Amino acid sequence: MTDFTGSDALAARARFATDARTLSLDGEWAVRFSPSWAEAPDDLGDPELAIDGWGRIPVPSSWPMQAEGHGRPWYTNTKFPFPVEPPFVPDENPVADHAVRFDWEPGDATVLRLEGVDAAGTVVVNGVEVGTTRGSRLVHEFDVSREVRSGSNLLVVRIARWAETSYLEDQDMWWLPGLFRPVTVLDRPADGIRDLRVEADWRDGVATLRVEVDADAPARVSVPELGIELAAGQRVEVPGAEPWLAEAPRLYDLVVAAPGETARLRIGFRTVRIDGHRFLVNDRPVLLRGVNRHEHHPDLGRVVPRATVEHELRLMKRHNINAIRTSHYPPHPDLADLADELGFWLIVECDLETHGFIHVDWRGNPSDDPAYEAAYRDRMARTVERDRNHPSVIMWSLGNESGVGRNLAAMAEEARRRDPSRPLHYEGDWTAADTDVYSRMYAHPEEVALIARGEEPPLDDPVLDARRRGMPFLLCEYAHAMGNGPGGLAEYQELLDSSDRMAGAFVWEWLEHGIRRRTPDGREYWAYGGDFGEPVHDGNFVADGLVDADRNPRPQLADLATVFAPVRMRIGADEVEIANRQDHIGVSWLRAEWELSTAAGAVVSGELALPEVAPRESAVVPLPDRARGDGVLTIRVVTAGESTWAPAGHEVAWAQRGALAVPAAPAATGAPRREGRTIALGSARIDAVTGLLRLDDPDRGDLDLGGPELVLWRAPTDNDRGHGLLPLRGHDREELSEEQAWEAAELPRLTTRVESVEAGGTFVEIVTRVAPAIFDWGARVRIRYTSDGDVLGMGVRVEPVGAWPCTWARAGLRFRLPFAPSAHWLGLGPGQAYPDTGLAARLGEWSASPDELRTDYVRPQENGSRRGVVSVDLTDARGSGLGITGEPFAFTVSPWTAAQLAAAAHPTDLPDPGEGSWLTIDLAQHGIGTASCGPGVLEPYRLTPRTVEGRIALTRI
Ligand code: GAL
Repeated sequence: MTDFTGSDALAARARFATDARTLSLDGEWAVRFSPSWAEAPDDLGDPELAIDGWGRIPVPSSWPMQAEGHGRPWYTNTKFPFPVEPPFVPDENPVADHAVRFDWEPGDATVLRLEGVDAAGTVVVNGVEVGTTRGSRLVHEFDVSREVRSGSNLLVVRIARWAETSYLEDQDMWWLPGLFRPVTVLDRPADGIRDLRVEADWRDGVATLRVEVDADAPARVSVPELGIELAAGQRVEVPGAEPWLAEAPRLYDLVVAAPGETARLRIGFRTVRIDGHRFLVNDRPVLLRGVNRHEHHPDLGRVVPRATVEHELRLMKRHNINAIRTSHYPPHPDLADLADELGFWLIVECDLETHGFIHVDWRGNPSDDPAYEAAYRDRMARTVERDRNHPSVIMWSLGNESGVGRNLAAMAEEARRRDPSRPLHYEGDWTAADTDVYSRMYAHPEEVALIARGEEPPLDDPVLDARRRGMPFLLCEYAHAMGNGPGGLAEYQELLDSSDRMAGAFVWEWLEHGIRRRTPDGREYWAYGGDFGEPVHDGNFVADGLVDADRNPRPQLADLATVFAPVRMRIGADEVEIANRQDHIGVSWLRAEWELSTAAGAVVSGELALPEVAPRESAVVPLPDRARGDGVLTIRVVTAGESTWAPAGHEVAWAQRGALAVPAAPAATGAPRREGRTIALGSARIDAVTGLLRLDDPDRGDLDLGGPELVLWRAPTDNDRGHGLLPLRGHDREELSEEQAWEAAELPRLTTRVESVEAGGTFVEIVTRVAPAIFDWGARVRIRYTSDGDVLGMGVRVEPVGAWPCTWARAGLRFRLPFAPSAHWLGLGPGQAYPDTGLAARLGEWSASPDELRTDYVRPQENGSRRGVVSVDLTDARGSGLGITGEPFAFTVSPWTAAQLAAAAHPTDLPDPGEGSWLTIDLAQHGIGTASCGPGVLEPYRLTPRTVEGRIALTRI
């Protein structure tokens, strides 16, 4: 029989700590697999079922991560991995019976709580079926008072991988069945507490408290720290209470005492309100600087140990993230506790996504099918009731990408009835008919600019249009953090800061969902879609995070911290303007330090006294006299004291003024000498046939540079590849991706023809024409060499020839070094930077080992460029190598060529690079953009073929 809601679960209620007896059943369970539902043994009715001969499995777990051969991890983004014929699922539907024995002494009543069963569970206690679960990421409680007995009990949960409700759970992630969240037995005393509802408000500076208690006997409510004692249901003002804010998460212990049970909760006073187009918390507008967070672990699947969650939330705080959208389901119940403690605004999203119907033009979408209404309501109810007492939760989201339809309206009604205190979010219906905020994903900055000004294109329905135009705006997803990127964070932030209609934005996404695998010879890599032989899948689209699956930051996380900084500074000649970008608190928890690196090489530093600056206000502070000279002035704002998420001295913001001095070109004193096909110029030897260079040095040895060779291509990034899947609404890409356009124009495969070699009085000039086969476009490269005897100057000019039909990825000179260098440079650093990324990179003196010069993305691609460089020494282990100075350039060192990177599916596929490495000195680069899902490279960062010039100098060191 079709079961959309599950059966016999108790009414949803809030989660709270209790002094009533509880027994965690987490640990080792017995498991038995069957290939399909039809083939699963019909023996669960046996209260003495012999489970000792079964296999063993930990609970919680995602079973494909524990046992092979019973259904693999399977990644699809939107596609259903089975035929679309709701409510049916394939016969091949692995079933796992999970069983455990537990000792229990029944009291008045006993409840069994299952926090997450993916996808559908049948719960059997001592041979009696007590109910079924639907809604993988939702809590289900069953009254098992009649079934449990004193002493040993047997619990079996039969779990099917696919169910009719799989059509409602098509989130972009691995399909991973299992009993993946805690299982608990709860004693329910007769005169205990069934449920409680906290209203801890903050309006006009006044805190009020009311706690509704569902109990048969009278309950007392107290907040000992505030000296508050009240009866259940009574509302009181709470003088002396402090508000709860993500920026200052003040929690109070609440005790609810009924005769048979005492419950404890941590509460915070705050009120969410929408006032016209402004989103307010505690009467002040709030800007959500957020990320979308999935729950994934590279070894455990959907099970994420609490220590890992704590670590990732601290990491978010340390990168100035203040909000989380729990994409796309209610998270593990501990998440809201941690968010309350550490201070995050949460949008808790319901467990709903029917995106796969997009492949059949939304025919049969459950969102508009009355047969599913009860399921939609049940999901919303379970989402709201569990977490509604958390101050961190400021909005509910109906779900993700589920099209439009009446069941969404029913969900909204359900949510509002159960919790009128929080606004509703849903992005899938652009009319915003059922929500309180207008939300979009991946909108182009141009459109966001219109929305910021309230000038977006109108809806057909004038009433809905007027309503939506008056709403706050959220970008529930933007800045797709896949591979190298996202570009354009600064432009989005400027728009978010530009209007009080902007309620915030959430980067897609926090975490890559790589699964740890090893090659036969033991090298680790991140598996993605297809690596388990899935017949349909969406490749590496599952790996698009700010941190890798081990929570190691990708370079883009530092960029995000820069745009999300709580303080922004603009440094003038004599003063600095300090803007407090927080919504509720001042800056007294921060202090500032300055450091001036003078052009003469001296470094002076000191403290900068921060004045008190009110939230969303700014102040101008004079610079200390000693900080006013020429050179690069850096001001860093750091935490004054230790907090729950960072030590004292942790940097939250920085700014710089000044520029690095550009080293002078070497004097052109050396005169060229022809030696056969070689031209000697100072220490340089130039091959007059090929144009290749060698630097001779009697002490250190000659250095063959295998270049210069013009390169216009790069190993395509995920953003260059574009959204190779289904076009997203609003982003139908008719045009080719950058990768396709480059391929079509033969950009990756250029050949060189030396046009002229001229040796003058103190220079050698070589002109080459570099071009692909098939076509008549190309580039003319003119390099003018000079030398002071030691240092080789290179004046470079690259000029397009013909009508290129595509952008250039770069205008770079490539060399081959016979070693894998460490780098020591003056320029932007320490991390990688491209024209529209690298916002965290600052001017300074930096060093990096060969490994630190690379970013090993899940799928190999262009990486590691350091920009704004005026000087770099690339040296081998003995400290000898190549020195480069010049007008600001970018350099990239890679063990592999762009073609090798482009051909590899995983880093472990790359060939053994041997000793050498490839050095590319870029005079210009194309931006990165976010076309893996969203807009491409913005106009100012596009490298349309044009004349590019630069000046560098090479020295053998
Ligand atoms: C969105 C979706 C996310 C994710 C993202 C691309 O459309 O809501 O779940 O798929 O695109 O990574």
